[in-house]
Amino acid sequence: MKKAVILILTMVMSVGLLAACGTSDNANKKSGDKKVLVMATSADYPPFEYVETKKSDDIIGFDVDLAKAIAGKLGYTVNVKDMDFGGLVQSLKSGQADLVLAGMTPTEKRKKNVDFSDIYYTAHHLIISKKDSGIEKLEDLKGKTVGVQLGSIQEGKAQEINKQIPIKIENRNRIPDLIQEMKSGRFDAAIIEDTVAKGYFEKEKDFKGFTISDDPNEAGSAIAFPKNSELTAKFNKELKKMKENGELQKLVVKWFGGEK
Ligand code: ARG
Repeated sequence: MKKAVILILTMVMSVGLLAACGTSDNANKKSGDKKVLVMATSADYPPFEYVETKKSDDIIGFDVDLAKAIAGKLGYTVNVKDMDFGGLVQSLKSGQADLVLAGMTPTEKRKKNVDFSDIYYTAHHLIISKKDSGIEKLEDLKGKTVGVQLGSIQEGKAQEINKQIPIKIENRNRIPDLIQEMKSGRFDAAIIEDTVAKGYFEKEKDFKGFTISDDPNEAGSAIAFPKNSELTAKFNKELKKMKENGELQKLVVKWFGGEK
């Protein structure tokens, strides 16, 4: 009887201890002696992050490689967690994740809630539509239904356009849903980044696109961290080294297949 009580007490105590570990260090847990960082992403964004369903369930892509490369240098392994793009900032705030790599652009609004690394890749916004849509320039969007990813900066871009040219804005959680809606004719166009659109143009032969702004930093990607995370400076230092020694460029060529 006494033994049983002690056993139960020990069990209760160790559960408490485990719980305490979990909360004291955010999502940043230890497995063996390798520290694990939880990276949240929205795996709907090839070649940044996606699942090649035919091959495996693993999330792969430029962002995953970059996170693993930097984390590895700092003695961490990376655990990738998939969620909708609109939930990523919150995942950092709530301590569910240690970092976000999701082709995420460091905007002033997001900076109120999270910290960002330096930019690691730059991109442009593209208006994509079917080749026979007659949409060749911004003005042609007048009265059209334009799809954007929920919570993305493309949503803001659409609102900006709407101030000059009245359009109907629709949002979806996932990029493939935008493509689907265009194929079925519910959307006339969508705003997507050039690097991601490029991949779709290869598969969807009747799609085309044009750039809406020539400022490449407008859609640049950076790594997001919880406010005041000590990881930001550490990651920036390694990112800088990778920019200087060509390692980053190698990843760019691997995933985006071209010089940058
Ligand atoms: N760069 C854009 C943004 O920050 C879009 C990123 C979308 N990323 C994704 N994994 N779906 O809003």
